[in-house]
Order: sequence, then structure tokens, then C-alpha cells
Amino acid sequence: MKTKISELLNPLYKTNMGQEDNTEVTSYDKVMNIFESFVNMNNMSKDEFLEKVFVSAFKLIPEAEKGSFYELSGDKYIPIFTNGYDFKTLQKLVFNRSDAFIDYECSDVSNIDAYQIYIEKRDDTKFTKEVIETFKELGTYANFISLYAPVQVEGINVGLLSLECFNGTEFSKNSKKILKFYAQIISNFYSQKVFHDRETKMYDDIVTSLVSAIEVKDKYTEGHAQRVREYSCMIAKELGLTKTQMIDISTASLLHDIGKIGVPTEILNKPGKLTEDEYNIIKLHPIHTKTILDKISNFSNISNIAYSHHENYDGTGYPQGLKGDEIPFESQIIQVADAYDAMTSDRAYRKALSINEALEIIEKEMGKQFNAEIAKVAIRLFSK
Ligand SMILES: [Fe+2]
Ligand SMILES: [Fe+2]
Repeated sequence: MKTKISELLNPLYKTNMGQEDNTEVTSYDKVMNIFESFVNMNNMSKDEFLEKVFVSAFKLIPEAEKGSFYELSGDKYIPIFTNGYDFKTLQKLVFNRSDAFIDYECSDVSNIDAYQIYIEKRDDTKFTKEVIETFKELGTYANFISLYAPVQVEGINVGLLSLECFNGTEFSKNSKKILKFYAQIISNFYSQKVFHDRETKMYDDIVTSLVSAIEVKDKYTEGHAQRVREYSCMIAKELGLTKTQMIDISTASLLHDIGKIGVPTEILNKPGKLTEDEYNIIKLHPIHTKTILDKISNFSNISNIAYSHHENYDGTGYPQGLKGDEIPFESQIIQVADAYDAMTSDRAYRKALSINEALEIIEKEMGKQFNAEIAKVAIRLFSK
């Protein structure tokens, strides 16, 4: 990558030769600013990213007058972004993969290249009236030169980037290198998106299958995980937690009781009162939860939040007996939501309490079992 950037910088130095001494620095800064704008591309939406690509590509490729980006969907190339063309008109120009003047695949992004093609004014007999009309509206019913490059993920074409020049000027060697570089950047963006989507789906599948595993075993907790998630997210949103905290709370609340897989079914589903020994076995479930979630990479925060869902604000909870701020704030939210759902659901050993009875208990336990700030928000939300 480094050599490519320096190759790209050379022509700018040359075009500025003979000007003031600091011009090179200015050009260098300009180019570096453009490259730096792509550093955070993981956090950008596709539209934001393509906008940046086109704005900066047009600054660096002087011959470019108009340009567009096509995404391959099935066997059709569909325009999804343009600079210079009327987008609505361009959208009429979906073309088949077999008609694309570029459709080769290569094994590595570094093999992606840019190509120049000379297009002669279209032959009226080869296109329908409508298509010719579209060409006229776009300004492509003319002789022009197109510089184009494929965008690929794992060697498979996913898109096409093209820039056009209508005044007869050929794209320079450097412009070709720059476009090649942009096609590689877009390819990387698409690859990251594919990996990210794949990873997210994998985690969703793991979470869903873990939750269904515990529900098969403990029939009284059916729907409990989903309800605790719903309540926890409501409280968290009301308290203004960050997006990252919200995501962690959502997953941790769904998985908080997963450790019950390690508790014998007879104890979990026992209709009568539990013996002290049996209760002590149930109290191990947050530890089992942690053991299971620690095995999933990137789940350490989620694991820690779920681990502390039975800690009480005053330190009387388990398994560690943490108190106050020692307990992760996210766990304190889940603890209130969990208690509320447990109280308002039928259990093997008792009938459900009414909403008012449950809220009275939460109020009574403010500052004791529950964080008062969270309890107040929960009472306000659940009494509606
Ligand atoms: Fe629990
Ligand atoms: Fe629970």
C-alpha cells in the first residue's frame, strides 16, 4: 500500500513544479487528507463511503467529468451512486452481466486493475428508442472515453466503478493507477461489510440457539429471556445509555440465565419449595453463565454483565456479594428487569403477582436490593 501511495503522490509533485516552495507540502497534505478520510471507513454507511470515494477521486483524476458506481445483483449491474449524471435517468440503465464490458474475476484485491475503453457514438440500430433517449439525456450519446475497474470480494465481482471523459482527452497512466487504487479501497470496504455481516449473523445464531437450549430444559422460563431483554432495553433507553451499552445489555439480558443449563432439570422444574442445598445449586447458575459466555470471543463484557445479574445493590446478592458501583451498571438494570419479570410470571412453586404488587416490592427495595435510580425509572415505565 505504501509504495502505491507514493506512486500516486509523484505526479502531483510534478504538476506543481516551478511554483512556490511550499506547494509540494500543500499537495502532499491534500492527498494525505484524502487518504486519512478513509481511515474510519468501517463506521461509514455505504452512501457516505461512496460519496467520499467520488469526491476525492474527482479531485485526483483531472480527466473525469462524470462517474458512476454499479452493484452486481444476481446477473445485473445496477447503478447505486453517481457523480455528474442524473441519478433517476441513470437508474434506467441496468445492464446484464453478460453485456458488461468488464467481467473477469481474480483471486486477490491487489490484482484488480483499471481499464480504458473508447466508446463510439452508439449505433441506433443496436438499441431501442428508449435506451437511445436515455443515452441522450445522460449525455452518453456521443464519443467518449471510460475508465473503469471492477470491485470484488474474495475474487468475485460485486460491483463496477467507472469514470467518463467526453472532451477527447485520454486518461493518464496515473489516473489509471488512482482509479485502480479506489477500486481496491471499495473492494476492501465491501469485504469488511461481508465479514461483519457474516460475524453478526454467526453471533445471532449462537445467541438464539443458546436461548432455545435453556427454554427446552426449563419450561417455566419460556419467553423469560426475551421479556427481560425487552424490559432491560426499555430502562436502558430511558436512562440514555450509549449505543454500545445498549447492544451489550440486549445480548447479556437475553443470555443471563443460560447457566441454568448446568442445573439439574428436577431442581429447575420442582413444583414445591426448594431445600437449602437445591437453592444453593440454583445460585450457581450465574457462574455457569460466565463459564459458557467466556468461551465466545469478544463476549467478555457481555459475560461479565450477565454474571452479575443476581448481585443486589446493598451487597446481599450472589455470587460475589458486590455492592453499589462495584456492580456493572448494565447488570443493575438487568437485575431490576429480571426481578420484575420473575414476580409477574407463574413459576413452578407459585402463581404470578399482579403488576402493582410487583411494583410495590420494587419500590420497597429501592436502595436495598435495587439501585434507586433504575428502580424509579422501572416503576414509571411499568406502571404505564
Ligand atoms: Fe438468573
Ligand atoms: Fe432470569
